[in-house]
Amino acid sequence: MQVHDAATVPPPDEPLLSPEAILNGIAPAVIGRQIHCFTEADSTNRIAKELALKSVPDGTLVIADYQTAGRGRLDRRWIAPAGTSLLCSLVLHPPLELHAAGRVVMTAAVAVCRAIADICPVEPGIKWPNDIYLNGKKVCGILSECAADGDRIAYAVVGIGINVNFDPGQMFEISAVATSLRAACGRPVSRLLLLQRLIIHLDALYCRLRDDGFPELTDLWRQSSCILGRPVTVTGDAVALSGIARDFTADGHLLLEDAAGELHTILCGDVSLGILPS
Ligand code: BTN
Repeated sequence: MQVHDAATVPPPDEPLLSPEAILNGIAPAVIGRQIHCFTEADSTNRIAKELALKSVPDGTLVIADYQTAGRGRLDRRWIAPAGTSLLCSLVLHPPLELHAAGRVVMTAAVAVCRAIADICPVEPGIKWPNDIYLNGKKVCGILSECAADGDRIAYAVVGIGINVNFDPGQMFEISAVATSLRAACGRPVSRLLLLQRLIIHLDALYCRLRDDGFPELTDLWRQSSCILGRPVTVTGDAVALSGIARDFTADGHLLLEDAAGELHTILCGDVSLGILPS
């Protein structure tokens, strides 16, 4: 469903996100069964992990208008001016083995793409392993942190940061690599509407993952990928490997074909488009 019209433009004083406003008019089965909203938090992922240890229900959602210590992958910082982004974390209890933890992030990434496409006339792409891109720049990052119970997932905390109504071009730390929905759509976007669309898609997709492992997920991921079939360089542990991004495994690993035609299964790393000069 697409809802790009005047109704998506937030009033300049769009109220702070609240559980009542978020659940108004939607009825998710799992996502948002408990919602914790903060005007300021250190990191919604940290709070969600604390809640996960207290056995909160599957689908518990933590949201902040501003984070003082927002965290990205690889110990990076995640920065966003107050009230301009969607900063949220989910506590999930997927009945999956640990090796399938990547499927939780894949599910979240597909849901983010769908929510963005519902709100803005743009085509988001997934840059493996967990970034969402618009027009060659990052608009969303996903940080997933799992705890194990033997060889199964005890809980997964999935943190999602979407740049909505600020101009990353004005922030020197991220100006070269980041964009926002406002920048891409040319108008402000309602964070509330975006969050509701995200909850609706996450709810539908997560229920499929939980109920039957979601076999079609890898195909959906391929369809949304912005690197498949393209020359890329993957950096990880101070090693860089260039090649063509050929495919993804069911658990979300990247299959990279090097210049000699050999296929490498890459478990994690940072992807940049293009091949390193040899
Ligand atoms: C990345 O691209 O490196 C992942 C960024 C994830 C940022 C989100 S914002 C909400 C949640 N809380 C955090 O501290 N981090 C995630």
